[in-house]
Amino acid sequence: MADLKTNILGINFNNPIFTAAGPTAANYEMLKRAQDGGAGGLVVKTISVEAAKVPIPNISNFNPNSLLNAELWSEVGYKEFIETELKKIRTLGLPVIASVGYSPQDLEILGKELNGSGLIEAVEFSIHYIDKDASNLRKTAVALKNNIDVPVFAKFSPGVSDLPLAVSMLDDVVDGYVAINSVGPALDFNAETRKSYLGSADGRGWLSGRAILPIGLHFVASIHKLSKKPIIGVGGVRTAEDVVKYLMVGASAVQVCSLSILKGQSVYGKLAKDLEKWMDAHNYPNIESLIGIFEPEQEKVQHFLYHGKQVLPTVDYNVCDNCGACVKICVHNALEIKDKLTLEKEICVRCGICTQVCPTHALEMKEG
Ligand SMILES: Cc1cc2nc3c(=O)[nH]c(=O)nc-3n(C[C@H](O)[C@H](O)[C@H](O)COP(=O)(O)O)c2cc1C
Ligand code: SF4
Ligand code: SF4
Repeated sequence: MADLKTNILGINFNNPIFTAAGPTAANYEMLKRAQDGGAGGLVVKTISVEAAKVPIPNISNFNPNSLLNAELWSEVGYKEFIETELKKIRTLGLPVIASVGYSPQDLEILGKELNGSGLIEAVEFSIHYIDKDASNLRKTAVALKNNIDVPVFAKFSPGVSDLPLAVSMLDDVVDGYVAINSVGPALDFNAETRKSYLGSADGRGWLSGRAILPIGLHFVASIHKLSKKPIIGVGGVRTAEDVVKYLMVGASAVQVCSLSILKGQSVYGKLAKDLEKWMDAHNYPNIESLIGIFEPEQEKVQHFLYHGKQVLPTVDYNVCDNCGACVKICVHNALEIKDKLTLEKEICVRCGICTQVCPTHALEMKEG
């Protein structure tokens, strides 16, 4: 059986599925449930010097697999949080990663408060609500690093416009990266009442869940290319294959937030079990064997619409059961089921989406 253990900066985790800073990591009770649900590591809700004044309502399930939220950070004062929650969270026995924000002044205070407490294995700082200018990011990282002796992770928000510059400014300060936080600002509302589902002043919130997986993968892959430091991937994990993808683009572990809100806190263990099965089926013996093996270079031979050799959807009739899913998705009407599935090559624009919706994997883009 595949070995799910992962080691990040000397910290041993039984599996690479962690909680993420969010409502399902807000206190001891939540993290106890996460531990019972099989999490390999406990990342705790963000604390700051000023407790958050959280608008209500603050989570909207606008889509079955994604969320909008305006939850901010912990509404509990940091001294109280450390004294009451963090001390109890420590007793759970899993590695604990605290989350702190936001300004250099905040991080200096919080670093000093947590330093030497023996309550955490590492700390991540969120850049979500600060100026993402690279020199400010550096100042923020330095303020935390200078005041704490556990490993420091920078948690990126996708709002970072120049990732190479941001990483170059942080890389000699931080010990690792977490990517990504939720995406936005973003807006949805009820057309009849003309009111947002969220209670924030402008109705806006932050997008998370399935919709942001490709952005998270892009960030982790890019950071992995720019830095040798360990990365924890977060954003849109829903299946074991999503975890595999994060590992393949360079993450050593993942965090899960929205899925645990939508499906409950047994998701961590379920993902870990499914990951083990996937690794066994694909002959990957351990987490290490998956990290960073994504092929960043696309095929050497690229294909261009109407220039040179073309790739086309090609049917494996041994597998096709004429379900018609590909026919429905093709907006060009290039597919038709007569006796069997047929393709009008002249109409097909080679977009490839039909190959991805086929439930039996009967379609593949091939030269033809
Ligand atoms: C309701 C909610 C509250 C969150 N609160 C925090 C937070 O306090 N600190 C933080 O760094 N990220 C916070 N996040 C972001 C998550 O940690 C995570 O980075 C993001 O949701 C992407 O992961 P997901 O797609 O698995 O949810 C929050 C997300 C949600 C949905
Ligand atoms: S590749 Fe695109 S255009 Fe061609 S059949 Fe498939 S969906 Fe239609
Ligand atoms: S989606 Fe797949 S199985 Fe269904 S008709 Fe198309 S090729 Fe056949």
